[in-house]
Amino acid sequence: MESPSAPAHRRCVPWQGLLLAASLLTFWSLPSTAQLTMESVPPNAAEGKEVLLRVDNLPGFLGGYVWFKGQSVDSNHQIASYVIDAQEIHPGPAYSQRETIYPNGSLLLKKATLKDTGYYTLLAIKGNFQGEIVTGQLRIYQSVRKPAVRASNATVTENKDAVVLTCLTNDTDISIRWLFKNQILPHKDRMKLSRDNSTLTIDPVRREDAGGYQCEVFNPVSSSKSDPFKLNVYNG
Ligand SMILES: *[C@@H]1O[C@H](CO)[C@@H](O)[C@H](O)[C@H]1NC(C)=O
Ligand SMILES: *[C@@H]1O[C@H](CO)[C@@H](O)[C@H](O)[C@H]1NC(C)=O
Ligand SMILES: *[C@@H]1O[C@H](CO)[C@@H](O)[C@H](O)[C@H]1NC(C)=O
Ligand SMILES: *[C@@H]1O[C@H](CO)[C@@H](O)[C@H](O)[C@H]1NC(C)=O
Repeated sequence: MESPSAPAHRRCVPWQGLLLAASLLTFWSLPSTAQLTMESVPPNAAEGKEVLLRVDNLPGFLGGYVWFKGQSVDSNHQIASYVIDAQEIHPGPAYSQRETIYPNGSLLLKKATLKDTGYYTLLAIKGNFQGEIVTGQLRIYQSVRKPAVRASNATVTENKDAVVLTCLTNDTDISIRWLFKNQILPHKDRMKLSRDNSTLTIDPVRREDAGGYQCEVFNPVSSSKSDPFKLNVYNG
């Protein structure tokens, strides 16, 4: 591990200091200070992609960083600590081998998974072994899968029947919109959407409602349309 150019004691001192500072700080549970900030770049990250937890306004004369999963400085959820002088990363119990800590404190997470969603806390340790803490949030979204449309009835009678179209999807945390003949469905008084837009009720159906209906599901990182469902309208 040790390279001949860097004597062992030069590396050990800051590293032990970091550990000590981290264990002392476990009992503080300070709220995040105003000046340090953490943000996810991009703000909404896609599963499988990389995402940076960017830290700004760090104090000067830093010795190192300790990153934690969660909202507090808890050594059981320590991702890794980083000694700035040595540019060394020391993995903790929450390390997944996908993390990189940069000398400026930011954390890069590769191949993000849904489980990475949550809070992250950074402890920045100053030269005098006092710490500053900041907590931020990461939100990972899955690419949505293709939804499907189910109808109460594919063939309805004009001015008599109603039809209920349902958008079938197994994805969660999504928004839904409806398309008619490849356009955003124009709203009519005879139409009612459920609160989450997953069902569209047309009551009564008119001849002009005949045609292809699609639902589109989307989240901040992706969208997908169903195949068109063809509604036939006959006059009574
Ligand atoms: C820290 O360094 C990384 C990698 O060079 C960079 O992407 C990021 O923007 C930097 N963060 C700040 C706050 O400068
Ligand atoms: C579908 O609509 C047709 C025409 O109005 C009606 O005869 C039939 O009973 C309906 N089927 C269902 C399953 O509601
Ligand atoms: C939802 O999941 C079930 C069970 O895995 C599957 O049968 C169904 O086709 C899925 N529906 C959609 C719209 O993906
Ligand atoms: C429902 O659809 C409308 C119109 O297409 C849209 O403005 C609204 O954001 C959607 N709401 C949800 C919860 O998807």
